[in-house]
Order: sequence, then structure tokens, then C-alpha cells
Amino acid sequence: MAPLPGLMTLPFGTTLSHSPRETFELAFAVGQSLETPAIFFLEGNLGVGKTVFAKGLICGLGQPDPDEVTSPSFTLINEYLLRLKVFHIDLYRLDTKQDLRSLDLEEILAEPAIIVVEWADKLDLPELEDVILVTIQDMGNDDRKIEIRPQVQRQGTGGRLLA
Ligand SMILES: Nc1ncnc2c1ncn2[C@@H]1O[C@H](COP(=O)(O)OP(=O)(O)O)[C@@H](O)[C@H]1O
Ligand SMILES: [Mg+2]
Repeated sequence: MAPLPGLMTLPFGTTLSHSPRETFELAFAVGQSLETPAIFFLEGNLGVGKTVFAKGLICGLGQPDPDEVTSPSFTLINEYLLRLKVFHIDLYRLDTKQDLRSLDLEEILAEPAIIVVEWADKLDLPELEDVILVTIQDMGNDDRKIEIRPQVQRQGTGGRLLA
């Protein structure tokens, strides 16, 4: 697998989180370790902890107040000017290819920034390289299995909105 420059210190692999705080802290450590632009796709069911993870990541990049990081489920995109530029995107409410086009997502994905996308599985972007996939699974109570893995070449299938 090709190396991802600047990302070699990430905690790739699977972690079991027992609380929102643990998820936040794991993501915070990821955010702190980032030195170069990167794209994170956060996958997992509604309410599993994607926004908690995004908050941790953004705070790890220098956002001082977690309460200032709000879910972009209505705004779709929130932008932060931190140690690196950050875009936090939530595609949950996006229903059509037309909605998606109006977002200019491809332009944003090409920016030298940290890009964190919730509900990224709505996309089909086979040409996108160096995506880091974060998959969160509810294991009951407050337990969450969090898998962080690089996906250098995404398989171009399955995405529902962007061909
Ligand atoms: N281990 C955990 N990690 C993250 N969130 C957790 C955990 N345990 C419970 N939660 C709760 O689950 C919810 C996750 O919400 P949120 O991050 O908005 O989900 P999503 O963005 O995936 O829809 C929060 O209410 C949070 O407090
Ligand atoms: Mg969310």
C-alpha cells in the first residue's frame, strides 16, 4: 500500500470506545497528529458518534471550544481556519444529485485542507485517492467500535449520488 505522507502516525486499526469522551479523545489525537491535507470519510448509522468524532478531530487541529463545533446537518458545510483549513461536511440531508452539484463538493475535495465528511457513503468517487475511512459501529450501551483505515484506491461502486 502506498504511504500517505504525513499520516503515518495515525492510529490506524480498530479501537473500542466506551464513552463520547473516549471517542472525542481518540479523534483529538488524530487531529493533533495531522500535518498535511487529508480527507476523512466518517461512516456509521445515525447517532453512532460521527459528529462526536468530527468535533474531536477539529479540536485536535486547534479549535479551542468543542461547543463551537456544531453539526453541519442543516448548513451542510462548516469551515474552520485552524492550524490547517478544515471543512466539516454532513451529507445526511442531501437527497439528489442536483443537491450534490450545488454543493461544489468536488471543488472543496480538491482544496489543500482537512476535509471531514459524514455520510460519505452517499458519494461514489472512485478517482479520489488517499481517503481515510473511519467506520463507527454501535456495540451496545455507550460502546463503539471505531475503525480507522486508509483507503488509497476506493472501489467505484455503491455510491448513490455521484457517479
Ligand atoms: N462511545 C461513544 N462515542 C460517541 N458517541 C457516543 C458514545 N456513547 C454514546 N454516545 C452518544 O451517541 C450520540 C452520537 O451522536 P452524533 O455524534 O451526533 O452521531 P452521528 O453524527 O453519527 O449521527 C451522542 O449523543 C453521544 O453522546
Ligand atoms: Mg452527525
